[in-house]
Amino acid sequence: MESFKETVDRINDLKKKRRAIILAHNYQLPEIQDIADFVGDSLGLSQQAAKTDAEVIVFCGVDFMAETAALLSPDKKVLLPAPDAGCPLAETITPEELRAKKREHPEAAVVCYINSSAAVKAESDICCTSSNALRVVESLPQEEILFVPDANLGQWVASQTKKKIILWDGCCITHHRVKPEDVEQVRRSHPDGIVLVHPECRPEVAALADYVGSTEGILKFARQSPAKKFIIGTEMGILHRLQRENPDKTFYLLSPGLVCPNMKRTASLAMVEAVLRDMSNQVTVPEEIRDRALAAVERMLAVS
Ligand code: 13P
Repeated sequence: MESFKETVDRINDLKKKRRAIILAHNYQLPEIQDIADFVGDSLGLSQQAAKTDAEVIVFCGVDFMAETAALLSPDKKVLLPAPDAGCPLAETITPEELRAKKREHPEAAVVCYINSSAAVKAESDICCTSSNALRVVESLPQEEILFVPDANLGQWVASQTKKKIILWDGCCITHHRVKPEDVEQVRRSHPDGIVLVHPECRPEVAALADYVGSTEGILKFARQSPAKKFIIGTEMGILHRLQRENPDKTFYLLSPGLVCPNMKRTASLAMVEAVLRDMSNQVTVPEEIRDRALAAVERMLAVS
């Protein structure tokens, strides 16, 4: 049986040959994170995709992330090792549905979470991620904001702004699974644990947490905190970096349900090697929506 090291060596050789960079989301499997050139949250990944001079981007994540990278780097090839890695949250809204909702609220600015298709981004004024959602909303002149598609993130923003936030009824099924009772139970079993959750969790869960933030925000909080024990309310893939960066601290998952099957579709290094070798699974954005979708993402990057 060939060794793990041989696969890693072949990926590194292919990376040089193709002038490629590997980007991975914080939810990816440990071995995928370990071979990536950059591991981060949605905002960090978009920033990396915008500034890299590589010719090929291998995106270890889900489809809307690769699509955003393709928007930001139109002259690069963006490859998605798991072409069937979708995002059920992004799929809760279509561009037609968003256009209909806009007609109901003609005065509202449209803010779309980055977990959306390029076609939905094209119908929006500006994009946001969980790390800059409040800042993006506050940067707009309009007092009324149509926030799509994540209602939990929208409510978290609404709890911190005076603006009127109109919500779309979408959610991340993985984060939405966590209930307030899970926090209460974990607080009983680990009374000295600090609870860190993602804003895609229900507002009742966020209200019980010690910190609410993006995956990178959670990593930063854990690094900087003097506490030794943390309860993590986001997808389990983040535990790899948390444990590696803080070997003297202990991390527990808030709920065993915090596993995103789509993020786990990038299931092996062999899948990364295959796209680099075959230059397969390229993600592109249709010409007719490209400029408008890119404008929404670029406005967000300017605010960040
Ligand atoms: P972050 O931007 O916090 O990494 O979130 C990405 C995501 O899809 C959460 O489910």
